[in-house]
Amino acid sequence: MVRVGTAFAPSNIALCKYWGKRDTNLNLPVNSSLSISLGNKGAVTKVSVNNIDQVILNNNLISEQNNFYKKIVSFLNLLRDQNVLTNKKMFFKIDTYSNLPIAAGLASSASGFAALVKALDQLFNWDLSLKQLSILARLGSGSASRSLWNGFVKWHAGIKEDGTDSFAEPIDLVWPELCVGLLVVDNQEKYISSREAMQISVKTSPLYYAWQQLATKDLNTLETSIKIKNFSLFGATAEANALAMHAIMLSSRPAIIYSNSNTISNIKKIWKLRHHDNINLYFTQDAGPNLKLLFLYKDFAIVKEAFPELELIRPFAVEVEKR
Ligand code: PMV
Repeated sequence: MVRVGTAFAPSNIALCKYWGKRDTNLNLPVNSSLSISLGNKGAVTKVSVNNIDQVILNNNLISEQNNFYKKIVSFLNLLRDQNVLTNKKMFFKIDTYSNLPIAAGLASSASGFAALVKALDQLFNWDLSLKQLSILARLGSGSASRSLWNGFVKWHAGIKEDGTDSFAEPIDLVWPELCVGLLVVDNQEKYISSREAMQISVKTSPLYYAWQQLATKDLNTLETSIKIKNFSLFGATAEANALAMHAIMLSSRPAIIYSNSNTISNIKKIWKLRHHDNINLYFTQDAGPNLKLLFLYKDFAIVKEAFPELELIRPFAVEVEKR
């Protein structure tokens, strides 16, 4: 056993969202989802054996009351309970550094958990396949199952109760011109976790019944649009899928609204650029007020002029990490 396991995993943005669990303990989703990884934006996680569980996030030791701490420790408890670790009384020091705003709907927990399972794999010399690591990462955070790869990734919902068929895998297609622009309108921690919000949606939204079918259709359309490189179809489908997820939240009781007034004014600005100025610009939004803009590199100058604070990510311009 090496003394420290260290690994990086990219963050990922869902284009067809995962919203709702069929099993809350194993993080088994109702629907399959599709994402794009954010290249070198993500988390580096170091793990070593310790006398207590300790979590350090961006160089700060975090308290046991912190949600991120609770999420990590309940994941470690799951591993301890399932005898995945050599010793049930084994504790860890987990040191995570993320170069994205934590808990601002920019999927930093996805990269954090994916990097953690890769680091544990190294620490214990498990030599698990990426598919097995995806299953393990899913137990920490559903979307983490998609953060083991770069590029487009599909998470199969699966149907088995034990979750062994619920894992992600990469889609072997590249789109070098594709850009994701991060538009951080607020980097405060979200007021309600995605875990809690999606369960409220499943239990109370009168629109939830339509979600599984809609997500299946959107996922198929997205895959086709990537194959044939039809960016308008790709952007329109991703945007509509995000809006449908937020519509479900709005119809939940209590209603959940992650958007703030800046989110809405930026959405209107995107629509104006698209409808009046013919810029092929779309967005997606997760469990937070921030927006991720979708466009092709040829339009970058115009998009940057309209959104000077935008952070450009070119998912296919980085070397795809090979294990
Ligand atoms: O995996 P979680 O619990 O962080 O939930 C992710 C939920 C969304 O980001 C809104 C959608 C997705 O598929 O990533």
